[in-house]
Amino acid sequence: MHNTVEICKDLHYVGGNDRRIALFESAFPVPRGVSYNSYLLLDEKTVLFDTVDIAASEVFFENVEHVLGGRKLDYLVIHHMEPDHSASFVRLMEKYPEVTVITNQKVKTMLANFFHFEGENVHVVKEGDTVSVGKHTLQFVFAPMVHWPEVMFTYIPEDGILFSADAFGTFGALAGSIFADEVNFERDFLDDARRYYFNIVGKYGVQVQNVIKKAAGLKINLVCPLHGPVWRKNFAWYLNKYDIWSKYQPEEEGVAVFYSSVYGHTQNAAEILAAAIAKNGVTNVKVYDVSVTHVSELLAEAFRYSHVVFATTTYNNGIFISMEHFLYDLKAHAYQNRKYALVENGSWAPQAGGYMQAIIGEWKNMQEVGETVTLLSAVKEETLERLEALGKEIAEDIKNKKE
Ligand code: FEO
Repeated sequence: MHNTVEICKDLHYVGGNDRRIALFESAFPVPRGVSYNSYLLLDEKTVLFDTVDIAASEVFFENVEHVLGGRKLDYLVIHHMEPDHSASFVRLMEKYPEVTVITNQKVKTMLANFFHFEGENVHVVKEGDTVSVGKHTLQFVFAPMVHWPEVMFTYIPEDGILFSADAFGTFGALAGSIFADEVNFERDFLDDARRYYFNIVGKYGVQVQNVIKKAAGLKINLVCPLHGPVWRKNFAWYLNKYDIWSKYQPEEEGVAVFYSSVYGHTQNAAEILAAAIAKNGVTNVKVYDVSVTHVSELLAEAFRYSHVVFATTTYNNGIFISMEHFLYDLKAHAYQNRKYALVENGSWAPQAGGYMQAIIGEWKNMQEVGETVTLLSAVKEETLERLEALGKEIAEDIKNKKE
């Protein structure tokens, strides 16, 4: 049965949720599910903005049919070709063969590549082009690499509506309300939004900054992303998060201590260091075992804080597997602009610190606090003192920054 929401006069939500999906993009756990948003505008012409993943296609087609109320579908605007939004395209074209697709040349090429679609009924637009559909004008704003190269937004100047593709989306299914101002977004979505941002588009901060600059010139009343809540109030707060994230600035002054430990001694060192940081007045300290926390969460937390600690044992004459994976994931997402400290352990040849330094040395604007603390198998009195001194140094660095 259909389940739609009227967003404002003439505009309807026709998307759906998926709470069975285990891994979004086969990579990211989504224990709170995910929504695939689609929107339908009723004007002199009817306009559908994107389709949905196969998982939500049944309710999506019922929604579209219900909102159309017997009218024909005139236009489908495709903003992004990733299959979580385009997978229902072929069935849509079978059901509404008279529809004209409005999109850009890159999407048109991908329609052929994904679906062997070579249809004539594609209206190709360029940046800034407009299409009038009655009382509303569709204006196209290109947003390459947010999150694929073909991505574009649609802006409706008459009502200040921005269809923002993946940008401003989040993991987490919609629960009843579709509006950000009707949920506790900071409590229920912000962690997922941060994890979504850094894992999906974190690598493309420059491109996100370009889009933010374009958006700054638009009067925006309503933001309709492809995942998560619709924004009609207080969007500036969320836009500011995107601004901070895409400039690779820390969102919070604080420390995330990441450790990998085979038999618990490196964990012991990490916990002693975290306690020393806290004892010296820092209230924002997190500790993560990288072997049991999903790397997508580790990545988001590393970007969140101003200071990070990497503590690991030496393994196979290198860095322990889960820590090495995490560090390369940070590198792949252009991690930069943070203070860091290192702890290494090794029972006969502690070398992980040097290997970590070599990886971190390739990142932009990383500054080490203190010196690497080396453990030989377990924490001793001397290493305890060095960990406590390092904790004090990190805490003072944070306090000096705040003052
Ligand atoms: Fe939600 Fe890039 O797809």
